[in-house]
Amino acid sequence: MGVLITGGSGALGKSLKTVFKDAYFPTHAEMDIANQDAIDKTIQDYKPNTLIHTAALVDIRECEDDKEKAWLTNVEGTQNIVNALKKLNNNCYLIYMSTACVFAGENEKFYTEDDVPAPKNYYSFTKLCGELVVRQYDNSCIIRTNFVPKEQWKYPEAFIDRFGTYLFSDNVAKGISYVCKKKEKGIIHIVGDKRMSMYELALLTGTKNLRKMTLNDYEGPLLTIDMSLSTKKWEKYKIK
Ligand SMILES: NC(=O)c1ccc[n+]([C@@H]2O[C@H](COP(=O)([O-])OP(=O)(O)OC[C@H]3O[C@@H](n4cnc5c(N)ncnc54)[C@H](OP(=O)(O)O)[C@@H]3O)[C@@H](O)[C@H]2O)c1
Repeated sequence: MGVLITGGSGALGKSLKTVFKDAYFPTHAEMDIANQDAIDKTIQDYKPNTLIHTAALVDIRECEDDKEKAWLTNVEGTQNIVNALKKLNNNCYLIYMSTACVFAGENEKFYTEDDVPAPKNYYSFTKLCGELVVRQYDNSCIIRTNFVPKEQWKYPEAFIDRFGTYLFSDNVAKGISYVCKKKEKGIIHIVGDKRMSMYELALLTGTKNLRKMTLNDYEGPLLTIDMSLSTKKWEKYKIK
């Protein structure tokens, strides 16, 4: 009986491994979240009292191009977890990782937990559907956030005209551990206290020789332009 965390090989998962040192992180191969039987077996064997669900298909282009995979992973996958916890029937506490991108992000709005979502692309739509699935399970918390790992920026350039109240994944992992201790329920935004562009965020990772890009240079699915969040229910963190 302990903490089970999905998505352990991901950006957030790696940070969670440093905070939840004793947790069990089944790999994708051990527990494919699109496979109900695999989840049922793992959950019946381990009997978690807390489950942090971070596994998802997060690539916006891939979700747009392969909607079936995105739906199976992000929506049915979340439903499979909830089904398995209901069968386990031990009132396991569930945390679901959602995203600032459930909001339209057209203005400098600083969305709170009470604001109305309006996703711009299929990825964000599936994450919002996942939220609705989790809301059918009482002992649960939906965390909306926005982060990158504190490491070399993945691309040679970064947007100067997309914004967010970003954190590094290590900050988010600590925030999740505090939410977990208090067994918070409902929706919580774990956010940074400063609105910045993606370019400013990329510089904070220490990446050198980055090019600036704008939305005019971009072709692809619609994006949430301003991902800034505020919170009525939680403290804001300093990015570090
Ligand atoms: N990154 C962000 O900016 C951001 C912002 C807000 C919210 N989020 C949310 O935070 C969570 C973690 O994001 P991340 O950036 O850490 O993602 P990531 O680095 O892409 O990692 C995704 C994880 O999900 C696993 N996974 C994918 N499909 C799976 C399946 N069918 N069964 C089991 N595991 C599967 C992957 O395992 P394999 O690699 O082995 O396939 C990987 O461990 C996601 O729920 C995401 O929606 C992310």
